[in-house]
Amino acid sequence: MNFKLKNDTFLRALLRQPTEYTPLWMMRQAGRYLPEYCATRKRAGSFLNLCKSPDMATEVTLQPLDRFPLDAAILFSDILTVPDAMGLGLYFSEGEGPKFERTVRDEAAVKALHVPDIGKDLKYVTDAVSQIRKALDGRVPLIGFSGSPWTLACYMVEGGSSDDYAKVKTMAYSEPKLMHQILSKTADTVTQYLNAQIEAGAQAVMIFDSWGGALSHAAYHEFSLPYMQRIVDGLIKEKDGVKIPNIVFTKGGGLWIESIANIGCDAVGLDWTMDIGIARQKVGHKVALQGNIDPLILFASPDAIRAEVEKVLASYGYGSGHVFNLGHGISQHTNPEHAAALVQAVHELSRKYH
Ligand code: CP3
Repeated sequence: MNFKLKNDTFLRALLRQPTEYTPLWMMRQAGRYLPEYCATRKRAGSFLNLCKSPDMATEVTLQPLDRFPLDAAILFSDILTVPDAMGLGLYFSEGEGPKFERTVRDEAAVKALHVPDIGKDLKYVTDAVSQIRKALDGRVPLIGFSGSPWTLACYMVEGGSSDDYAKVKTMAYSEPKLMHQILSKTADTVTQYLNAQIEAGAQAVMIFDSWGGALSHAAYHEFSLPYMQRIVDGLIKEKDGVKIPNIVFTKGGGLWIESIANIGCDAVGLDWTMDIGIARQKVGHKVALQGNIDPLILFASPDAIRAEVEKVLASYGYGSGHVFNLGHGISQHTNPEHAAALVQAVHELSRKYH
């Protein structure tokens, strides 16, 4: 399975090698803002069925690429497949987001956590990765991903989404040992999971630390960052002589960008709150940067979108090392025409910076 890439701009930018323009993809690029996604999801019966069917996951992964000239594909799946495989029983209740049948709140529950056999329990994911790689036929690189241990633990302890993370933070502060046991078991699972995705054909991997930003400075450096470092340390860095770059994204992590850049990752994802030029001054000699336009700019006019794209590009400035992206996932209420305007603006306006 050795396809030659027709467009490797994304991989070159992650490795800070010269490119002709700034490559881009959009977080949650396959999702409900696309009518064709909604149609496939309806056929699947549920979001989870969609994730668990490699055929349909392949179909929806390619949908945004058929619409827009994006520079990377991302595996269609979810970060919560991991706690599901650890035995917690994931389900989605309409309008309420993800939920777990079982939570992890005491020592017995931590002991009972199943260490997944990735090749068996998450085979539907690695099957999807190899099938998507084949279907892409070298068009653009394929990104694999996982949640960070802290972010996964948020869902495992809370049992679903939360506004204040009261349960998981209480555990971190009052039973740090127990918290570390959960994070440690999860980090080992995530490392194996990402490596299995790489073996199956993922050409870059991204760690989503969506809730690291809910932590204090000290707690972030105790409960989130060290576990991402452990994962980065254990990742496969090169396959068949080709580098496999990794991206670490902590939403709300702008304050800790230097610490994040120091864990040995290739790229740091930024949400929209930080100026990307300042981020570059701080860590641009060490890592590439991915981001960081406010996803809600897509609710404004194509002219406003173009002006905002120019601001982000100008702030990053000249040279490689920038992968354009949204600062967080695209909203389901986005007009696809506006996403098209963003892609076009990035491709056109970025050439002068390279
Ligand atoms: O980027 C992509 O296109 C790849 C697919 C992808 C999904 N989820 C599909 C999805 C990725 C990379 C994720 C990651 C994910 N999942 C994160 C980290 C990124 C982030 O957003 O911070 C988190 C926290 C989750 C957990 C999750 N999954 C939640 C909270 C929800 C419900 C919220 C919502 O938008 O409904 C999901 C469901 C989900 N994951 C959807 C999609 C397309 C919507 C499900 C549907 O079709 O009904």
